[in-house]
Amino acid sequence: MTAKPLVVALSKGRTVKALVPLLARAGIDASALERDDRSLIRDVTALRFLLLKPDDVPTYVEHGAADLGVVGRDVLRERESDLLVPLDLEIGKCAMVVAAPMGKPRLTDLPRVATKYPRTAAAHFQARGVHAEVISLSGSVELAPVTGLADCIVDLVETGETLRKNGLEVIEKVAAVSTVLAVNRAAYKLRRSEIAELVERLRAAIHGAPASA
Ligand code: PRP
Repeated sequence: MTAKPLVVALSKGRTVKALVPLLARAGIDASALERDDRSLIRDVTALRFLLLKPDDVPTYVEHGAADLGVVGRDVLRERESDLLVPLDLEIGKCAMVVAAPMGKPRLTDLPRVATKYPRTAAAHFQARGVHAEVISLSGSVELAPVTGLADCIVDLVETGETLRKNGLEVIEKVAAVSTVLAVNRAAYKLRRSEIAELVERLRAAIHGAPASA
């Protein structure tokens, strides 16, 4: 390996919590990621992590400020990111769905759809031949049908608790979502062996094989 670390863009919060045990199983001590301070750069052996908002992870990787990114398929799809995806990390599993108020499972002719994923939502309804008005929000989208801002939402569901608590139910599945390893195209060529080694260590950790030292 060269002295220069591979740079990995990573979203703060839930993804870090799920990734640290996976890295440990891959023989990479990434406890520095869990340190509770405001530092946005965390170095571990041969890797430098940048802690970002989820939507910014593809930006760093596409522009080459990071070689790799740990990011949800939801974000990659919405951003139409031009990145290689050699490995599904099998963490952050959830679903992108259309949800509407309970007991109203049929959509109107021109549904108003609130979402943090306007491109994904527009493409989903277009593919079904449904004209939809897409309303972009940046969070708490479950509130939109409750307040009359929208008829339905397109959002992520993990446990279903947020939908239930807000009187909504799933009416259609849009896509399965999980967290993946995404790679900058140039880095994939220029640092091929280091990236391949990391991918293989992670793959072994995901599928239960012990990490080689
Ligand atoms: C996500 C998602 C749902 C919720 C789903 O929101 O957008 O609101 O989690 O999880 P559940 O099915 O387990 O209840 P997040 O917590 O990221 O907050 P946000 O609504 O502000 O984006």
